[in-house]
Order: sequence, then structure tokens, then C-alpha cells
Amino acid sequence: MSDIIGELRVLGAKLQEDSETRLKTIQEENIDQDIDTVVKNHSLSLSELSRALGLQTNVLKSFVNDAIEKGLIPPVLQAANKRHLFTLEHCHMITDLLHSSGEIKMKKKLWRDEHEGLASIMVASLKGGTGKTQTATSLAVGLALNVSEAKRVLLVDLDPQGSQRNIMQIDENDELMLTAVDLMLGDKEPDSDYQSLISAGHSHEEIVKASLFDTHIPNLKLLPAHPSDERFNAFAWQEIIDGSKQGGADVTELLKQKVIDVVKDDFDIVIFDSAPSINPLVWSGYEACNFVIVPCATRSLDWSAVKEYLIDLPDKFEQLPAEGKQIKGVHVVATMFEDDKPASDDVLMRMKRHVGDKMFNTTIPKSNAFEVAVSIHRTPLDIRKSEKLVSTRQLDKSTMAINSFVREVKLRLTSHFARTK
Ligand SMILES: Nc1ncnc2c1ncn2[C@@H]1O[C@H](COP(=O)(O)OP(=O)(O)OP(=O)(O)O)[C@@H](O)[C@H]1O
Ligand SMILES: [Mg+2]
Repeated sequence: MSDIIGELRVLGAKLQEDSETRLKTIQEENIDQDIDTVVKNHSLSLSELSRALGLQTNVLKSFVNDAIEKGLIPPVLQAANKRHLFTLEHCHMITDLLHSSGEIKMKKKLWRDEHEGLASIMVASLKGGTGKTQTATSLAVGLALNVSEAKRVLLVDLDPQGSQRNIMQIDENDELMLTAVDLMLGDKEPDSDYQSLISAGHSHEEIVKASLFDTHIPNLKLLPAHPSDERFNAFAWQEIIDGSKQGGADVTELLKQKVIDVVKDDFDIVIFDSAPSINPLVWSGYEACNFVIVPCATRSLDWSAVKEYLIDLPDKFEQLPAEGKQIKGVHVVATMFEDDKPASDDVLMRMKRHVGDKMFNTTIPKSNAFEVAVSIHRTPLDIRKSEKLVSTRQLDKSTMAINSFVREVKLRLTSHFARTK
């Protein structure tokens, strides 16, 4: 072994240890009076939950007390100021119970009662660093946070950079981690962790479902990525070169067949975060999605690159097995907008002029709230002003934009997935 390889291995071990220590420190710092800060930040008071569910406070209060007495839900936490804290987990249990018991007529409907079919959104662009990961994560959290709709959201990281693992604070040490690629290539790779699970008697479906990580939001799960996922591209290119198709199926169908079709009844919305590349793993995302969101930073070079990417997209879709026929919409969102910079404004105007109604009205501003949030494994939606981690102005600017973007995405999804009866 040459010296440099040895040195890099030592460096690698130190970096690994540093990442683990950092995550542990953040998790420890996050414990506030025995309650995880992020869990606390998303907790609602009785009146907030009543408002969210469209019920009178006294009606909800007696329903909750009754459910606690019957042991159907655990007792509600109380903060130091005696305010009741309904954690999101609690809120979802209550929402489920209200809907299943039918004792109280609910005006607000669950997302799944009003929409049919799985909405799967691919967040993609050939340009690197345009805010894909930030858009995918904020959208996933924003969509999952609505307590009355109780959307079941799955975030799938298709980018071997694996950033979602770092944002979502999942504990990689406790559990075996399988990625979308591990599940896609499962029966093609001998001696893999996947194969050991099969040998131990687990079915593919069981393995897929067990591979989804819990996050800080109860109805948001994550299928993470890992640098080794890059091997999918080598595998796929070889298949393409050999011209041999696995059992008649194209390799780009594996994500849909081996992962998404397996969990499609457990989720309402799937969001794919992708790498800034044009390769078979990204094509698999196009094949498995029915919506594409293209984030583009309001910078001249970014817009030039995204323009070229959009020009090539229809040809790419047509080459895929489904020929892009399942794709209901491709929409562009402007990111990292700097309202005090005329150049940023100029690019935004050009984008709007060219993209027309395929452009989201919401523009995601450049804000250090995004950077601060990422550094503590969160999104801006997971931060409270009272934490004073970022200025109120910056936090408001980012959360207002995310919420407005989430509303727009919901509207566009509703126009395609609303139940007809
Ligand atoms: N609106 C924003 N304001 C400020 N910083 C942002 C914003 N959006 C993203 N960032 C930061 O810019 C960097 C790139 O963003 P992000 O990782 O989302 O881009 P990406 O398109 O996913 O990159 P890649 O192509 O490498 O996957 C990150 O450090 C992120 O925290
Ligand atoms: Mg990314």
C-alpha cells in the first residue's frame, strides 16, 4: 500500500469519527428539558391543534381526554409554562383516531381521501449547486407538516453525495442502511447485505419497507443514498452496451419496479433528490416520477445551463421505457434570489419570460437561514424564532417562501391527482 493510501485511510477514519461526534453533539444540544428541540418546535398547543383540525377547543379537549383515559393515545406532554404540547406524533394519532372513530364529523379531509394515486416528484437539474437538495428537503418537510391533511411523504435520495442523511439526522450506526440502489440491484449482487437478508428469510417487500428511515417528522420517511450508489451507473452502462435487458425490463425501470411500486400504497407523495448529472440513475428517477421540478438559481450561468437542460429534456424522456407519457408537469422554481441585486432580478425576469406558466410564482430567496439550518441538520421550517439561531427577518423570509412554494406545489398536484368523485 502506498503511503498516500494509508494516510488517506487514517484521515478517513478521523473524518468519520468527527461526523459521528458532531451529529451526537447536535442531538444532545437539541434536548431541551427532556424533549428534543425539533420535536418541541413542531409541537402544537391545544388551541393550535383545534385550529389546524377545524374543531372547537372544548370538543377536541374532551375527545383527547377520553382517548387518553381509554389508553388509545399516551398522555400529552406539559411544558414548563403548563402549556400542553401535542407533539406531531400525538397530533397524527389524534387525527387518525378522529377519522377512524367517526364520532366527530371532520370538515377537514385527509390528503388521501381527496387525492388518488401516488404523486412522485423528481427534483432535478444538470447544474450543480442550484438548490435541488434544499428544494427537495424543504418541500418534503413542508408537505408533511400539515397535521389535518396528514400526507404520507417519502424522500428518496438518488444522489450518491448522500446529503439527505446529513440533513435528516438519521442514526446510521444503529441500523443497517440500504439505499435505493441497494434495493434496485438486490437480486443482481451476490454477497450483499440485501442478499443476507433474503437468505435470512425476509421478502423483498419486507426489506424495502424496513429500509425507510424515520425522521423528525412522523409522516416523513427517508430512503438515503451513499457514495457506493454510483455503481448503478457502471452496471447500467454495461447493460446498455451489452444490449441485454434483465428479464425483458430496462435498467431504468428498476427504481419504479423495485422500490416505488412496492411502497406506493403506503405513501401519498414521493420526492426524489437527484445528482447534477445525466446518467442512468437520474433517468431512473424520470421513469419513476410523474412530476419534475427544476430549481434554478437566479444567476446568469445557472440559467444558461438550465435552459440547455430544458431543451434536451423531451428527447431524454422519449428515450425512456414509458417515453415520458406518465409525466404530468415540468416546472421551474427560481432559487437563491437576491432582491437587492439587479443582476439577480434580471435573470429572474428572463426566466419568467421564457418559462411562462411552467414557472412557480414563488421565488426562493437567498438566505443564511438555509445555511444555518443545514449546519444543524434541519430545514428553516424546523427552527423557531425564539431559538435565536438566525435573525427573525431571515427566518421569516425563508419560511414564508417555502410555505408559499409548498402551497403552489399542492395546487399543481391537486389539479392532477384530485379524486373525481
Ligand atoms: N435559498 C438559499 N439561500 C442560501 N443558501 C442556499 C439556498 N439554497 C441552497 N443554499 C445552499 O447552497 C448550497 C447548495 O445547495 P443545494 O445543496 O441545495 O444544491 P444542489 O443543487 O442540491 O447541489 P448539488 O448539485 O451538489 O446536489 C448548500 O450549501 C445550501 O445550503
Ligand atoms: Mg444536491
